[in-house]
Order: sequence, then structure tokens, then C-alpha cells
Amino acid sequence: MVKVVVAGASGGIGQPLSLLMKSSPLVSELNLYDVVNTPGVAADLSHISTPAKVKGFLPKDDGMKNAFTGAEMVVIPAGIPRKPGMTRDDLFKINAGIVRDLVKGIAEFCPDAFVLVISNPVNSTVPIAAEVLKAAGKFNPKKLFGVTTLDVVRAETFVAEITGETDPSKTTIPVIGGHSGETIVPLWSQAKPAVNVPEDKLDALTNRVQFGGDEVVKAKDGAGSATLSMAYAGFRFAEKLLKAVKGESSITEPTFVYLPGVDGGDAIQKETGCDFFSVPVELGPEGAKKAINVVSGANDYEKKLLVKCYEGLGGNISKGVEFIQNPP
Ligand code: NAI
Repeated sequence: MVKVVVAGASGGIGQPLSLLMKSSPLVSELNLYDVVNTPGVAADLSHISTPAKVKGFLPKDDGMKNAFTGAEMVVIPAGIPRKPGMTRDDLFKINAGIVRDLVKGIAEFCPDAFVLVISNPVNSTVPIAAEVLKAAGKFNPKKLFGVTTLDVVRAETFVAEITGETDPSKTTIPVIGGHSGETIVPLWSQAKPAVNVPEDKLDALTNRVQFGGDEVVKAKDGAGSATLSMAYAGFRFAEKLLKAVKGESSITEPTFVYLPGVDGGDAIQKETGCDFFSVPVELGPEGAKKAINVVSGANDYEKKLLVKCYEGLGGNISKGVEFIQNPP
């Protein structure tokens, strides 16, 4: 049983994610932190008859300290979401500072916690989190994760629409790279069980996974980006990690990690030239147990996608690192 913090708990993702956390028998305490509305969200969730004890915290009265102290997992969906016409990179200006300040709090009040970053642009906010933790002497790469599970969930769903599989979650598809546009690379050739995507549908399918978030942003028409599917995806990743921490073995999920700090990551770092990258990671009690090199198995079509991924991702990572090393 674990003490979990959701930072950004009153938001579009934060609320349904907190609901799923409250429903989990793996969570004993659930602290909701946000700059607004957490007392109400916490009061509401606290009436649900599950074991987790829910409390709400605001920045006043040492709220961050009280929320974070003793936490074993902090999930961060704090920050502004996209509006139509915006890229994830457009969010950098505001969300970079929000993530920096929350991770400073983690370094101070719960440095051993698993940190799950949802706030966009993930390609930059995870390097920001790493740099803040490094500066505080608290960086454990096995415990820092960028949540890219929504890309995996979308790949499973969209390919099932082509193959006719009735339960999309039965197919495992490694989606690797980063979490925006062309940095997202689904490896259809490594799906398990194998999927047969007709060649004339491959480009459209790949593009739909890479830009699936835009479908939601457009449909919500100014009211935000994916929240419910993201809450599902964020909880799916958090739950897998909690199960692995409890000792369940053979749990693997793609996630955006600092490669040189994770077993098996060095070879992938050499091959991709990227310090941070999403690959399937075997999870264990220590967090990221082993990064699995699916990059070398990419087919020619996927290798072309990877070249574009490397071009975009390198700049996104540097931007995050720079933000902390040479503050604007
Ligand atoms: P939202 O605006 O509905 O909620 C964000 C919440 O963060 C708000 O309640 C706000 O008060 C809170 N917040 C702002 N500053 C804060 C601070 N300093 N400390 C604590 N809380 C703070 O936004 P939504 O839709 O929930 O999205 C949140 C983030 O998640 C966005 O950056 C979005 O781009 C990202 N996202 C990531 C995805 C992924 O796959 N990783 C998918 C979809 C969205």
C-alpha cells in the first residue's frame, strides 16, 4: 500500500486520474495538490468506500510540504493544455516553470518518490525534472518516468480498427521515441501478436498515432486536450509500476526515461543519440529495471520514422536541459 500524490489534481486529467487512484486497492493515501480546488475534489473523492485516505492541499500553509512529505509516488499532470493550433512545444513557456517548481518540492520533501511526468511537452519536462533532481543531488534515473502510455493506448485502439480485433488491449505495440508529433514512433513490425496492416494504410495509421492528440484538441474546440483517455493511460502506467514495486514480475511498458541511468539503456543511447527516449522498460521494485532495445529491430519503414524522431527529439531535450542549466 503506497502513498501517492497527484500534483495538478483539480485539472481535466487530475480529477479522473485521482478517481482511478482512489479506486485502486494498491493506494493507501492519496494527497491531492493543486493551486486551486483541491479541498472540494478531495471531499468528493473521500466519500468513496475504498481504503485510500484522501486529503486536499493548496500552496498556502506549507501545502506542498504537507502533501509531498513521505510520498512514494508523485504523478504530475499540472500545467496548461493545448488549444487548437498549438503544438506541445508552445506549452513550454508556462509548463517548464511549473514542473521545475514541483520537482524542486519533490527533491526537498520526498526525494525517494517515483516521479511520473504527464505535463507537456514531455520531451522537455522530463529533462527539466532530471536536471532539477541532479542539481539537488537527488536524481535516481530508475525513478523518473515520462508518461507516454497514451501513445501506446492510441496505437492499440487505432490498429484494432483495421485488424478487427475486438479487444484492442490484447495487442502489445511498442511505441517509442518521444511524445509529440513525429517524435512518436509506433513499431508495428514488433506488435505481439503480429498485426497485418495493409501497406496502403500504414502511413495514415502511423500519422494518426503521432497526431492523435490533435483529433481531441480539435473536437474539444478550445476546451483543452485529452483528459479522460490520458487519465486512463496515466493510471495504467502508475498501476503497473505499483504492481512491480510490490514484487510482480515481467511487467513491461514503454516510458520516457534517461537512458544512461537505466540498465540496458547505454546501447540504446548509442544507437539513437538521445539521452532521453521512450522504450519498453521492464519495471521492478527499484522502478526502471531494464530498458529493452526494440530500436535495432525496426524495419526499413520504421527506421525512416526514427530518423525524423531523432531530429526533433534532440532539440526538445536540449531545450529542457538548458532551461535549468542556463535559466532564461
Ligand atoms: P488542466 O488545465 O485541465 O489542468 C491542469 C491543472 O494544473 C489545473 O488544475 C491547474 O490549476 C493545475 N496547476 C497549474 N499550475 C500548478 C502548480 N504550480 N502546481 C500544481 N498544480 C498546478 O489541464 P489538463 O488537461 O489536465 O492537462 C494537464 C497537462 O497534461 C498539460 O500540460 C497537457 O498538455 C498534458 N497532457 C499530457 C499528455 C501525455 O500524454 N503525457 C496527454 C494529454 C495532456
